[in-house]
Amino acid sequence: MSDSDVRPLVAGNWKMHGLKAGLDQALKVRDAVSAAGFAAPVDVMICPPATLVMVLGELAGGGRLLVGGQDCHTAAQGAHTGDVSAEMLKDAGATAVIVGHSERRADHGEMDRHVRDKAAAANRAGLSAIVCIGETAGQRAADLTLDVVRRQLENSVPDGATAANTIIAYEPVWAIGTGLTPTADDVETVHGAIRVALVQRFGEDGARMRILYGGSVKPDNARELMSIDNVNGALVGGASLKADDFLRIVGAYGT
Ligand code: 13P
Repeated sequence: MSDSDVRPLVAGNWKMHGLKAGLDQALKVRDAVSAAGFAAPVDVMICPPATLVMVLGELAGGGRLLVGGQDCHTAAQGAHTGDVSAEMLKDAGATAVIVGHSERRADHGEMDRHVRDKAAAANRAGLSAIVCIGETAGQRAADLTLDVVRRQLENSVPDGATAANTIIAYEPVWAIGTGLTPTADDVETVHGAIRVALVQRFGEDGARMRILYGGSVKPDNARELMSIDNVNGALVGGASLKADDFLRIVGAYGT
């Protein structure tokens, strides 16, 4: 099977942005992707902060706009003040959750084994895990990109991963929020290496698992990035906060 048979996903990661008043942007996205004329072969998701998952889940109403969380605890419930479980996100209307984002790895000391357990928790709850990997500027300068990405992939993705319950997001840390992106050749090399590793470990599921690119995806570079082999969509930060920008990125798949 070819990579072009994989249905792409464009997911917006709102990070710690968004009050109720900001939901008008999500509603604009919902309405655009739900319109009769919207036939693009792409899934569209917004991952708002935890406070807005339930309300957006209700507003999305099981329609074409998918809703995701940004993190989950490994346990289904328990004495973990301030944490949110995958089951709670599912109950609130999410169908997926981001795990192992580099900001969580940096801010909360999350390591590959934590990320793997969170991904397994997401799958247990019936959510897809969007597992983030990517090298820092220093690792890139030391020519360690492929080593780092392969190691993170090996250790952050649980054994039970399937094409249906797992999505990989390659996000070079130095490209996040900086306006910098790797060259198309570099993206192709890394995504190609991820694909090879996924196929070796998961066979046919590895061939069909979506691999998103993230890091300074904008309306004016989305089409080029999304056309690269083994890039099956995008994980978008800043540009997902404005509906018009986000919809132009979704439009890279033709609307
Ligand atoms: P930016 O699109 O703002 O660079 O963020 C990317 C990201 O971290 C998405 O998870």
